Amino acid sequence: IPLAGVIGNPIAQSRSPQLFRHWLKTYDRAGFYIPIHVTEANLADVIRTLPKMGFVGCNVTAPHKVDVLEIADLATDRATLIGAANTLIFRKDGKIHADNTDGYGFIANLKQGAPGWAPSIGPAAVLGAGGAARAVIASLIDVGVQEIFLSNRTRPKAEALKSSFGTKITVVDWVQAGNMLEDAATVINTTSLGMTGKPEFRVPLDGLRRGTVVTDLVYSPLRTRLLIEAEAAGCVVVDGLGMLLHQAVPGFERWFGVRPEVDVDTRAAVLA
Ligand code: ATR
Repeated sequence: IPLAGVIGNPIAQSRSPQLFRHWLKTYDRAGFYIPIHVTEANLADVIRTLPKMGFVGCNVTAPHKVDVLEIADLATDRATLIGAANTLIFRKDGKIHADNTDGYGFIANLKQGAPGWAPSIGPAAVLGAGGAARAVIASLIDVGVQEIFLSNRTRPKAEALKSSFGTKITVVDWVQAGNMLEDAATVINTTSLGMTGKPEFRVPLDGLRRGTVVTDLVYSPLRTRLLIEAEAAGCVVVDGLGMLLHQAVPGFERWFGVRPEVDVDTRAAVLA
């Protein structure tokens, strides 16, 4: 019986166990998926032990997404480019393979939540330049978005992303972040602003145009101030929960042998 799980520190907040259990039940698959609390000091030991215990792979959440790349024997090009992995595959030959499906999940959620969304609809504006932004930008470039405006409170981090991802990125100063929204067909918040327990999202939104697709990676709360104000301005809004659900699809398929659907029942299962 295949075993899989998710490693993080803390881990109790993770919705992945509920998600995987829902899919295991829905698709009538034998298997187990468990939350595993791992400290930084034990990370390498735990990862190398899991395959010996019969695990076929695991998901990785904060704060381990960067460190697991070093521990893995192989990494996909996209994981290497992003500099982080969220999915580890324990192969039969004993090798640990690292992948990053966050960008896939981001794009799949955008397409599902904003029908008709396509890379050709115009420039994207990305707020934030942390780990999540790296996955988002890599995927936007990968699907063919031609122009990306990027703004971050700490400007050098945005400049660093431009150095690794190239000329399609224009860095915009954080105090000017509101201005880049006027020219954007897609707006993405990758900062933690607006998350429960964090400062509220404050970038001025007057520049948002009707029909712009606005998405927030923050999904707690599900309807953030950004999404509420964008919807009031006539934008098409996509919440961040779907990204979490979609990024898990490739792992579930590989470990449990069926490609799961992300639908209203899936959302309900993780919100329960
Ligand atoms: P993640 O992996 O979720 O992207 P992260 O790498 O810690 O997490 O990145 C957090 C992002 O939220 C960064 O872009 C951060 O901006 P800085 O690079 O300036 O730290 C942004 N962020 C966090 N708190 C913020 C705040 N109070 N105002 C503006 N941006 C903030």
